[in-house]
Amino acid sequence: MKALITAGGKGTRLRPLTNTQNKHLLPIANKPILHYALEKIAATGINKVGIITNREGDEVKQAIGTGEKWGVEITYIPQEAPLGLAHVIKISQDFIAAEDFIFYLGDNMIVGDLKKFIDEFKNQNSNCHLTLARVKDPERFGVPEIVGDRIISIEEKPRSPKSEFAVAGIYLYDSNIFDAVNNIIPSKRGELEISDAHQYLIDHKKQISFSEITGWWKDTGKPQDILEANRLVLEHIEGRTNGSVDTQSVVTGHVQTGKGSSIINSTVRGPVIIGKNTVIKNSYVGPFTSIGDECQIRNSEVEFSIVLNQCEILDVHMRIEDSLLGFATRVVNASGRPRTNRFMIGDQSLIEIC
Ligand code: G1P
Repeated sequence: MKALITAGGKGTRLRPLTNTQNKHLLPIANKPILHYALEKIAATGINKVGIITNREGDEVKQAIGTGEKWGVEITYIPQEAPLGLAHVIKISQDFIAAEDFIFYLGDNMIVGDLKKFIDEFKNQNSNCHLTLARVKDPERFGVPEIVGDRIISIEEKPRSPKSEFAVAGIYLYDSNIFDAVNNIIPSKRGELEISDAHQYLIDHKKQISFSEITGWWKDTGKPQDILEANRLVLEHIEGRTNGSVDTQSVVTGHVQTGKGSSIINSTVRGPVIIGKNTVIKNSYVGPFTSIGDECQIRNSEVEFSIVLNQCEILDVHMRIEDSLLGFATRVVNASGRPRTNRFMIGDQSLIEIC
């Protein structure tokens, strides 16, 4: 069995963070999203992994490398344009050859392992095994119509969803999927839709099985999803301090700090992860916050946020919450007169002021 992971796309809903970085490399609990997919795949014993990247730029390749770190061998497969998930499978046919494979959307995160899905796919002799997650907004996803224990149709982002399930971005296939992706036609938005490929399999009487993801599942397409995924991952971290904490500070709950970091006269309430060489001084860091390497937080308060490497939050008198701060962002007190808010912000940023 092989694996195919998507790591391309433009990540438009995550701009401006994705103006300078591929969304699959954004950190959740200080680890790139893509690492989670690679870890889960490596844990199944699969060792041949294809990663689909954008044609331009090799930042994913640079960041992930040969796969040695996970004990897998990675083949990079560039997609000339974002022509859809079924197109991704189509261009990976040579890499997959005649093997069964797991198709994993690199921006999807789940808790738990993949073994259960692989076992069900094999035990049921399926041509395609789908994973379903119950969601509040199925219209954002591929949605199955289920009768008894069978999926009888699948629609992509339907106006009137026929169930409360989303087809999650973890799929298992045998080579029948190639007939499907080679025979469907582009949708109205010009893409070869994965849901149309699934519908093709249904129409051609192929065996489609499914399992429900009962733990959490997140498609990290939007800022709020990233924060939520961060919360969910932090919920499971262990406390581990490699940095220093002075006697004036109060650190409670599960808090991880990296080497060279210091917490000085501050309150840190876990779960919180802090990277290397970061200084938290006279500040409050609240639950579900990830702070990267080489940051400075002084006389400020941060909660439920993700702060990337080299950020500075200095003398900010309002609590920063529900926020994503990109690499080397500075949020500082506006000194001098007139007392006013001043911005020096990049394209497509979002500032919310109360
Ligand atoms: C894609 C698929 C959709 C699936 C979703 C899961 O949607 O087209 O069928 O439910 O991934 O994350 P996209 O995230 O590209 O809108």
